[in-house]
Amino acid sequence: MLLTLEGLDGSGKTTAWEALHDARPDATFTHEPTDTWYGDAVRRSLGDDDADPLADLFLFTADHADHLSRVVRPALADGDVVISDRYTDSRYAYQAASLADSEIRRPLEYVRGIHGAFTREPDATIYLDVDPETAAARAGATDKFERVSFLAEVQSNYDRLIDAEPERFVRVDASRSPEAVIDRVEDVADRLIEAFHGDDAAVAGAGDGDGA
Ligand code: TMP
Repeated sequence: MLLTLEGLDGSGKTTAWEALHDARPDATFTHEPTDTWYGDAVRRSLGDDDADPLADLFLFTADHADHLSRVVRPALADGDVVISDRYTDSRYAYQAASLADSEIRRPLEYVRGIHGAFTREPDATIYLDVDPETAAARAGATDKFERVSFLAEVQSNYDRLIDAEPERFVRVDASRSPEAVIDRVEDVADRLIEAFHGDDAAVAGAGDGDGA
């Protein structure tokens, strides 16, 4: 099973993903951007305010292709539960936002289309829901993707993705304390993994609020 964690910068996603390590010691934990040289290239581009948004998209997508073939597909083939801190939806939400003023028409559909030919979509996704103002303040607004107006655009793309596939996403209120968010994510992850392995009743009512 492939379970992903998504959310704005500063949503507490990585803290929750780290906490899941103790609760799920047998799972394969991974993340995007990765720790490979592809990931290094992505991070270098993140630090460049003038990087071309299409070039950014293809760097992130190259990192994803490598992640998929080197880590995700082999772990899934071994029957592992794979838990990834960011995955395809980060590209759909963030790169579609950075391409919003470009020559690309319907950027979210464009970015999805590029992935459609080769990716493996997640079985379930936990979305840590926090408003863009809180997200930017928590993240420290240190790079080009951590500004409020940009994060508002990213959030609206995540909302569109959730509306299109409410059965895949579980929304967790990430405005609460880190401890409360971690407890909720652990609980939701347990239910999703149980549901995937055959107990469909476990997922009913797993999320906070609307959407999923
Ligand atoms: P992180 O803070 O979760 O490590 O992610 C680093 C930044 O990269 C964050 O601002 C989100 C952004 N990002 C994208 O824009 N597209 C992607 O595909 C991924 C994985 C991350």
